[in-house]
Amino acid sequence: MGRKVLLFLIVGLLGAWYLYTPLPANTEQPWTLMSMEACLKTGLNLMLLAEQLGISHFMTINNFFLSFLETPPTSDEYLTVVDTTFHNIPVRVYVPKQKSKTLRRGIFFIHGGGWFFGSAAFSDFDNLSRQTAHRLDAVVISTNYRLVPQHHFPAQFEDVYNSLRWFLSQDVLQEYGVDPKRIGVSGDSAGANLATAVVQQLQHDQDVKVKVKVQALIVPALQTLDFDLPSYRENAHYPVLNRWLMVRVWSEYFTTDRSLEKAMSINQHVPVHSAHLLQFVNWSSLLPERFRKGHIHKKPTFGSSALANKYPGFLDVRAAPLLANDTQLSDLPQTYVLTCQHDILRDDGVMYVTRLRNAGVPVTHDHIENGFHGFISDRLKVGARIQNQYINWLSENL
Ligand SMILES: *[C@@H]1O[C@H](CO)[C@@H](O)[C@H](O)[C@H]1NC(C)=O
Ligand SMILES: *[C@@H]1O[C@H](CO)[C@@H](O)[C@H](O)[C@H]1NC(C)=O
Ligand SMILES: *[C@@H]1O[C@H](CO)[C@@H](O)[C@H](O)[C@H]1NC(C)=O
Repeated sequence: MGRKVLLFLIVGLLGAWYLYTPLPANTEQPWTLMSMEACLKTGLNLMLLAEQLGISHFMTINNFFLSFLETPPTSDEYLTVVDTTFHNIPVRVYVPKQKSKTLRRGIFFIHGGGWFFGSAAFSDFDNLSRQTAHRLDAVVISTNYRLVPQHHFPAQFEDVYNSLRWFLSQDVLQEYGVDPKRIGVSGDSAGANLATAVVQQLQHDQDVKVKVKVQALIVPALQTLDFDLPSYRENAHYPVLNRWLMVRVWSEYFTTDRSLEKAMSINQHVPVHSAHLLQFVNWSSLLPERFRKGHIHKKPTFGSSALANKYPGFLDVRAAPLLANDTQLSDLPQTYVLTCQHDILRDDGVMYVTRLRNAGVPVTHDHIENGFHGFISDRLKVGARIQNQYINWLSENL
């Protein structure tokens, strides 16, 4: 009997230790967050185990299960929702039903999911697009793109760019009744990375006459050079996106070869010939004091140029848009950036705010003090607030 109780206690304690995640004091709904994190962590660990056993790449397994969270394109009383293709890229389009005398605003939305999961049909994204179209009385295009691990950079960038250019053509804008002077591009997380990159590219594309009026970037991932930023240090073990996973996700964007991940995990992947790019991610000069405090900037250790020559994508501005120089940034449209305090990607967004302001671009920066990565959905109160702030900004500025 005594032994059984002891065993029970030990198993219980081990279980609690495994499921318990230390959270910052200002966390809202801590138990909900902790149980979500416990599910995510358990799912991830099982998938990684399956990967170790040689069953399949963990991202492929992940996508199989997540496909059950997709919803068909369903029109409702306000919106006509259809799936179609733009330049052969699958997109979901939301068009308000009510007749309008004037042209409508257009939002081109790019979903997140670490470049390896998610889709326009994913219920959280479908919900967000509906809310956006309904509240702004706007046409929303939610684009898909090819995913990791079957496809690596620049496939994702190219799909999104081709889809966006298709949308910006005169015929398509006319077909959907969209005002060419009131178009916004937005995205969250990896989708915000793609949004940032395509908007930079678009500004200098002579072939595209219609430019966007605003860009809205929610918890964007923007740089690949320094994985030792204060936000990487502070949030290395916080829920949703920990440092290990982020480094794996970044490296998988370029290759499934784990040697890049290994170099990135110890922050020794930047070759010495790219040293001049470090100024663009220099957090000791680009972060305001409140994000820097208590941290000491370490000189980087340079990595092998063989690795960088093999996977040049990680030094490409289309993958790491924070690497654009000031001239390239100077003619970007009005920008909204939303960052979360407890997000490993926080400093990517904060540094972009500084860089854009230095280049003379008007920026609104919303910082969520008790926010975590990746909750642009109304599953948690903080996610609903993020969603609201983002839509309000579009409503006032687009
Ligand atoms: C980063 O910024 C600090 C402070 O402005 C400066 O001393 C340092 O030389 C910079 N480093 C790089 C690599 O630009
Ligand atoms: C900025 O980058 C562009 C594109 O790579 C290049 O043409 C330009 O010379 C650069 N400007 C400066 C000031 O470095
Ligand atoms: C989607 O939106 C509806 C209505 O706003 C809400 O009731 C539902 O919980 C949302 N679903 C998700 C997954 O966020």
